[in-house]
Amino acid sequence: MEAAIIPPQSAGYNIETEWVEGEPFDWNTVNARFTWNTTGKVNMAYECIDRHVDEGNGERIALHYLSEEEEFTYTFSELKREVNRWANVLLRYGVKKGDFVFVFLPKHPYCHIAMFAAIKIGAVVGPLFEAFMEEAVKDRINDCEGKYLITEDSFLDRVNREEMPSLSTVFTIDKTDGAIPSITSEAEKASTELDTVWVDLEDGLNIHYTSGSTGKPKGIIHAHRNMIQQFQTGRWVLDLKEEDVYWCTAHPGWVTGTVYGVFAPLLNGVTTVIHGGRFSAKAWYEVLEKAKVSVWYSAPTAFRMLKGQSEGIHAHYDLSSLRHILSVGEPLNPEVIHWAYQTWGLRIHDTWWMTETGAQLIANLPTRPIKPGSMGKPIPGIEVEILDEEGQPLPPQETGHLAIRSTWPSIMKEVWKNPDKFASYFPFGEDWYLAGDLAYVDEEGYVFFQGRSDDMINSSGERIGPFEVESKLLEHPAVRESGVIGKPDPLRGEIVKAFIVVRDGYKDRDGLMEDLRRFVKTELAGHCAPREIEFIDELPKTQISGKVLRRELKKRDKVNS
Ligand code: PRX
Repeated sequence: MEAAIIPPQSAGYNIETEWVEGEPFDWNTVNARFTWNTTGKVNMAYECIDRHVDEGNGERIALHYLSEEEEFTYTFSELKREVNRWANVLLRYGVKKGDFVFVFLPKHPYCHIAMFAAIKIGAVVGPLFEAFMEEAVKDRINDCEGKYLITEDSFLDRVNREEMPSLSTVFTIDKTDGAIPSITSEAEKASTELDTVWVDLEDGLNIHYTSGSTGKPKGIIHAHRNMIQQFQTGRWVLDLKEEDVYWCTAHPGWVTGTVYGVFAPLLNGVTTVIHGGRFSAKAWYEVLEKAKVSVWYSAPTAFRMLKGQSEGIHAHYDLSSLRHILSVGEPLNPEVIHWAYQTWGLRIHDTWWMTETGAQLIANLPTRPIKPGSMGKPIPGIEVEILDEEGQPLPPQETGHLAIRSTWPSIMKEVWKNPDKFASYFPFGEDWYLAGDLAYVDEEGYVFFQGRSDDMINSSGERIGPFEVESKLLEHPAVRESGVIGKPDPLRGEIVKAFIVVRDGYKDRDGLMEDLRRFVKTELAGHCAPREIEFIDELPKTQISGKVLRRELKKRDKVNS
């Protein structure tokens, strides 16, 4: 049975004046929103910060930081000055256009400042998730021969410089005794004036490593042209207006945290909230109330956790500023949408996109009815088709491969040093980008997610490659073979489950389970650690190549659960 449709609740932007449904949308019409359209000078950092200062909005709040310990803001003018200072320090250490500058920091304005400082001088920024462990950091920096890293003292034990020979400078944001350069101390002495390094729309802007079902994570490079779609989806989908206070809960180490936590709101000149600290229903409600958040972008697992933790709590908070809520990253269950509608009186607008797509492609717009269970419809300018195994379009209601007609302004520029991987997204020719997702479309064009066509795991919206976890487990002396799958989970969508063939002589199975979990957690990252481990005598494998048959493991797991 289809869940009840929820009607629109806000007027939203009048997209109808810009686009007629069913007609193509000319993305070039968005160019007029950018200064480079008249000056010819392109840089994402300029459009996010300096232009607002130049247009007389320098005293508006750009960033609003809140944590248990402190709360402060940066105006657009203050942010511009600070970014310029940091950029001058980077220049002094030799950062050049096209260099990779990695940023390994917690959620904090310094993370934004570091990213913009690198971008403003033409470098390609690589934000790293704050919970990455040594190997995850090393794999990324080594893959693209990153030269610079900005981090903090407490993260240094996860930065193994000896194994990252390309790194020429590591900066800390702490005030140190001079063992390594302190970017904050040096910035205090640096000039607030900077000659922005102008780039081409096609030049590299950021790199995010993302997992698939095979191999190590791949480096997805995006270009400055992304700003066209990121600005526009900020208006159409996030519905951002000048007076909004906007909070995206994702860390910039994930693509959502960068695109919709850093770029899109600032391109739209909107105040961005940054919360330093962990999730709890109380902490999050406090942020919503204190910062007077009006637009809020989060993820299904977080909403499910709020649902689980917040019996009645919300009533203690003044959430009257909140007017628009969005979700991304994993399937959003209809029950959660209905719960939110009853509890907060607001719809949750699901959106769909990927690291590779650079911006939202499918979304529930504020002006359209929501069909709970659907990710919404393609946004203007985006054409979606469901294809069968031969690349032929399927009729409504039939599940197949989710394909997007290429191209659009924010599509990835390249997969770093991996043209074959790039080509693999276009198995039926360059017209159709294949997401790797399975979906169907209904008669009205609403898209319904049905799962992945590969073995990639999505746990709490975080993309995890089974191969990466299997390889890590194999490094443990007790493990002879490993097979890793995503197991359905009511809270996290999926959890990582590992099947292990143990080497002879390892008897203490309970102790080993804990040890294996800790091993993955401390060497790779917490979110990759298997929450469930099953010991097995033999793994199912393909006869010819001897590859682990994860599908068989999934079937076996389903039967036994
Ligand atoms: O499987 C889809 C799932 O997340 C994948 C992309 O992951 P990532 O590159 O980490 O980007 C996440 C956020 C931009 C997709 O291939 N996914 C994303 N959004 C949704 C989703 N699955 C179901 N519903 C969504 N709304």
